[in-house]
Amino acid sequence: MTGTAFTPRVFSGIQPSGGLTLGNYLGALKRFVDMQDADTHECVFCVVDLHAITVWQNPEDLTRQTREIAAAFLAAGIDPAKAILFNQSQAPEHAQLGWLFSCIARMGWMRRMTQWKDKAGKNSEEASLGLFAYPALMAADILVHHATHVPVGDDQKQHLELTRDVAAKFNHDYGVDFFPITEPVIGGPAARVMSLRDGTKKMSKSDPSDMSRINLSDDADAIAQKFRKARTDPEPLPDSYEGLKDRPEARNLVDILAALQDRTPEDVMSEVAGQGWGQFKPHLAEVAVETMGPITAEMNRLLADPAEIDRILADGAERASAIAAPILARTFDIMGMVRRA
Ligand code: TYM
Repeated sequence: MTGTAFTPRVFSGIQPSGGLTLGNYLGALKRFVDMQDADTHECVFCVVDLHAITVWQNPEDLTRQTREIAAAFLAAGIDPAKAILFNQSQAPEHAQLGWLFSCIARMGWMRRMTQWKDKAGKNSEEASLGLFAYPALMAADILVHHATHVPVGDDQKQHLELTRDVAAKFNHDYGVDFFPITEPVIGGPAARVMSLRDGTKKMSKSDPSDMSRINLSDDADAIAQKFRKARTDPEPLPDSYEGLKDRPEARNLVDILAALQDRTPEDVMSEVAGQGWGQFKPHLAEVAVETMGPITAEMNRLLADPAEIDRILADGAERASAIAAPILARTFDIMGMVRRA
């Protein structure tokens, strides 16, 4: 920990690399709204378009997806009067600090990242340099705002550890106490929402099977069908949550219901113990449709006026730069860059 007192500030980001899934909603977006509404932190939320282009993005798709993710933030309850919402490329301080951090982070740190290994796969020689350096830019996103807390799903844990390492190495190398050692905020039943086809894989927008995930854009019929076909074992639900320990698919569905209803999985189990899937799955689908239906409808309403979304993003970018520019300027000073008088 550093000795400096930092303003309590939340930062988090979502890539506009496709539509959002129920995993993104429960693991991230819903928790962002809770943190905003708790009024305990300044909140800064970002559509990370510079991260999205670490793999190929068709330009028109990128534009559309950026507005869609922004609309999803708003529809889920992010209030631009309370929180800052912007897209990363509009606040140039992110990319600038990203470069500085590429000179702080070590090749070995990057090579250990499981997401790099997963995404680059066997073909790493063909992966972009940006995909490799991705976590340095992510550290910059967080630290250019001196964020103290970062709510994310479990899959981002390693990147947040690297962010702490970057901050600590910078502070150590330059003999300062300048960057905060950020706290990850990971937890609850939705920290890792799993695929509906395979309980050992996370639910992901890039999974080739659409049946593996619930998309924020799915209608009620699609949601009901996907839960109906979700893979499970033949056993009915046990008496307690403990009994789901070795039943990943079953546990995932209980966790999803708990997260949707803001309950603990243990509490859910006290109600559904002994139920068969024919009873549980339609109930889960109903709850999911009730929660997500209004969000999807509001998203579509907002997307009918892209100019208004662009205005909100531009305003957010200005406010984000107002926080980030002095922090970046101070970083340049610490590193010894000669700056314009
Ligand atoms: P991304 O765009 O892949 O996902 C956005 C958020 O959704 C969470 N998430 C999940 N949570 C639970 N279960 C799942 N199946 C699931 N799938 C995704 C992710 O953990 C994430 O919180 N590198 C980040 C974006 C980023 C960022 C940042 C995040 C860039 N800069 C700074 C925080 C702070 C990413 O690719 O998220």
